[in-house]
Amino acid sequence: MTLAVFRRYSVLNTGGSSGVTWGRTRKHLSPQTGRHAPSMTTASDSEAFSPVQGYTRCGRRLYDLKTPSLSTVTPTAMSSFLNFVYSQIFVALPYPKQDLTDQTIIVTGANTGLGLEAARHFTRLNASKVILGVRSLEKGEGAKKSIEESTGRSGVVEAWRLDLCSYESVKQSVQRAHGLQRLDVVVGNAGIAPSTFAMAEDNESMVTVNVISTFLLGLLILPKLRETAAKFNVQPHLTVVSSEVHMMAKFEERKNPDLLKTLNDKNTTDMGDRYQVSKLLQVYCARELAARLNKTGKSDVIVNYLNPGMCHSSLSRDGPFFLEVLKFFLARSTEYGSRALVSAATAGEETQGAYLSDCHVAQWVFLPRRHCCEGFADAENRPAPMVLDEPEMQQRVWDEVSAKLESIRPGIMASV
Ligand SMILES: NC(=O)c1ccc[n+]([C@@H]2O[C@H](COP(=O)([O-])OP(=O)(O)OC[C@H]3O[C@@H](n4cnc5c(N)ncnc54)[C@H](OP(=O)(O)O)[C@@H]3O)[C@@H](O)[C@H]2O)c1
Repeated sequence: MTLAVFRRYSVLNTGGSSGVTWGRTRKHLSPQTGRHAPSMTTASDSEAFSPVQGYTRCGRRLYDLKTPSLSTVTPTAMSSFLNFVYSQIFVALPYPKQDLTDQTIIVTGANTGLGLEAARHFTRLNASKVILGVRSLEKGEGAKKSIEESTGRSGVVEAWRLDLCSYESVKQSVQRAHGLQRLDVVVGNAGIAPSTFAMAEDNESMVTVNVISTFLLGLLILPKLRETAAKFNVQPHLTVVSSEVHMMAKFEERKNPDLLKTLNDKNTTDMGDRYQVSKLLQVYCARELAARLNKTGKSDVIVNYLNPGMCHSSLSRDGPFFLEVLKFFLARSTEYGSRALVSAATAGEETQGAYLSDCHVAQWVFLPRRHCCEGFADAENRPAPMVLDEPEMQQRVWDEVSAKLESIRPGIMASV
């Protein structure tokens, strides 16, 4: 989370909100809760949206993209900020205790930060194979040694080369993964948040690493997850590490009909917004993927996405000094945040397509009153209001991303 992100709180405006309500208390995820699966919104069950004007067909204003100013703080923005602070200070994440005997797990970006700590938990929890997808094998071997020393388990962890800046590297890793006896979990954790514009493959680097390559990997590996489901009668997971900051994306590129092309335009790119946008795109893609799997009866694989909270890691190495101050007071350790990754990667089918925060299907604690009144009263499954209010945008993002993935690997969409 960056200073720019906090400025976004003053910009995000879903219109029509009239106050903030104290929501319900949080419940921990449990396969035994019997919670209903969150419903998937589709293009047909909501108002049409004009991406250029930011208005629904009914004329309700969705976003106010004014110049940031404290005077534009809205109840929704205030709600998400209060939820963030509440979560960082008061919410306790349960220490993972699941038994993962026999499971094979891949974690991308697992040489450091949240990925490393999640891999450490998976190893401690008895997984039979934990694969660290790393762009530097040297760093991967260092991480493997660290995990083996702390868990006392050897012969479990493997470091595989995987560079999400290269589609070829992603394809090669997936090909290798297809040779595994089974694959129970893939955690798409690797991510970047640089402050300067750079290209990787044919997109801006954050779009390539955080979005395109993450879903290239996810979709290419789906058949293996499905094969594992059928062979071992289990429900594998494809878990994407997103972030609460997806709620703060201005996403001005949405005004242009050609999203990916616009995201590649250096001259119009707002790098202060790009990380949030990349996390928002992850949310759209994960939701649409889960919805499609549900629709086609292929929901034998759980697709969910999560927010680990603000954590101490090297992700914000380019961030402003203010962020360091904020992290000093509020950030979680990477071990603590990694519990959210483990929880999502082992969660029940009620998390299909759901946004998980603090180890459960995310809920508003401070609920914008408008959402109380418009059918979000139980406050569950709360990705950004932008996501819930604009199903058409999810469809647009998916159409563009899936076309791109199809161009990288023809036939890839057949698995969905
Ligand atoms: N920390 C937070 O506050 C926070 C909050 C919300 C969400 N998240 C998300 O959590 C995930 C992990 O972040 P973190 O905080 O643990 O950051 P981190 O410490 O910087 O770790 C990021 C990991 O991703 C790897 N990576 C970067 N580019 C890669 C590429 N091209 N190919 C393969 N791996 C690559 C990094 O490898 P190298 O070491 O080689 O660079 C590193 O292992 C990210 O998706 C991030 O967006 C973090």
